[in-house]
Amino acid sequence: MTHLWLIGLGTMGENLVRNIISHDESIVVWNRSLDKVDALVAETGNTVIKADTIADLVQKTESPRNIILLVPAGKVTTEVAQELFGILSPGDAIWDLGNAHWDVTLANQAEALKHGIHWVGCGISGGSEWARLWPALMPGGEEETVKRMLPLLEKIAAKDFAGKPCVTYVGRAAAGNFVKMVHNGIEYAIMQWIAEIYDILRSTNTSQAEMKTIFEELNTGLLKSFLLDITVDILGTKDSDGTDLLEKISDIAGSKGTGGWTVEAALKLGVPVPTIAESLFARWMSGRNHQNSLWKMNNEKWIMNNGGISKIETNLLKQALKTAYLASYFQGIELILVAEKEWNWWIDIQEVLRIWQGGCIIRSEMLRVLPDFYREWSAPDAESKDIETLLQEAREIINSSMVPTPVLSSSYSYMLTRTSEKLPTNLIQAMRDSFGAHGVKRIWSDVSESFQWNS
Ligand code: 6PG
Repeated sequence: MTHLWLIGLGTMGENLVRNIISHDESIVVWNRSLDKVDALVAETGNTVIKADTIADLVQKTESPRNIILLVPAGKVTTEVAQELFGILSPGDAIWDLGNAHWDVTLANQAEALKHGIHWVGCGISGGSEWARLWPALMPGGEEETVKRMLPLLEKIAAKDFAGKPCVTYVGRAAAGNFVKMVHNGIEYAIMQWIAEIYDILRSTNTSQAEMKTIFEELNTGLLKSFLLDITVDILGTKDSDGTDLLEKISDIAGSKGTGGWTVEAALKLGVPVPTIAESLFARWMSGRNHQNSLWKMNNEKWIMNNGGISKIETNLLKQALKTAYLASYFQGIELILVAEKEWNWWIDIQEVLRIWQGGCIIRSEMLRVLPDFYREWSAPDAESKDIETLLQEAREIINSSMVPTPVLSSSYSYMLTRTSEKLPTNLIQAMRDSFGAHGVKRIWSDVSESFQWNS
């Protein structure tokens, strides 16, 4: 008898089952529509065992059971969970692999514990195809419960730069979902600044074939990454009539929520994540441009009149991308560190950066140098010389752009702010004191004073 179940045979669930059984494990599967289970059992032989009902799953497995839930988040998860609480034995564990909000995971953990059941919030990244091959896994919850599944998870996970599995015990409580949520916030940022580089190139009438070559060149060294890999593929994709498909795709971007939750967490914990926030707002802004097509026409004319950018220097684009990469990762890291300090979830940030090296959507070569960069703020590679040069060159691209670059600009400003010796916020303090007597401190002093700000 096996200890393993899976509920929910969507694309992700089916691919995960295929991954698990490819490692000689057997698994009991239930899905609302049983035809899917029948088809999988027929194809895979007796490593996949069909359960006719959720209750039947109990008969076909033994305790301590590990139930992998891959059903839509929200109402469906709650319904299935309620049914499970009624039939599981104490010590069994429910593994929720959906993108759940950390508050929802905390509530589910509390509810499950009333029945002696452990609830593991496990982030999974890599998209549906990678679930079959090598996902990155981010489980959080009760330590022993997570650790008893680690041997299996290590078999099915992607590998890091050193060949170790991209899975670890992320931490207590909702640590797994929180880390996956921040992963997605960073994902939003990287996707948006890649799109901005595409827009800059498009505004200079670079053909899509030329863009593909430029992106291939950008996708090297520290910038080598999954999201640039797929960008190159997208730029090379043709419609059935042989023309570029991308130009025919609507520019209204969707979002399921995790980017917004990341910003919500940042607001709650007081962590500045401007790059991630701008990438969320850029998605929300998309579509609103259609409400003002007159401006759009004029804008295009304006760009043409100004000649756009005459020559794109790939090296400058690289520096802008590195700046954006560093800012995006940095903000995510800081958010996790602050959450850890606030909630004491035992998250080891070095381990998080390690398991993001393979399988997940935000994997990139930049992760090799990130721990050093975080400590020393030195240039990430020899090509960037030093951090000042990196920022100066990034600025050249951003300043010469005729298209909106909210995330590239915000990344640049973020990095400049973090490395500035002086910020203008002394004036903010003076204004606060001037109208509200909120008090100011002189440089190097801890004493708060109020002044009459009369000239
Ligand atoms: C992953 C992805 C995955 C999903 C996002 C999409 O790591 O495999 O992040 O979880 O693609 O949730 O999110 P949006 O619909 O919000 O873009």
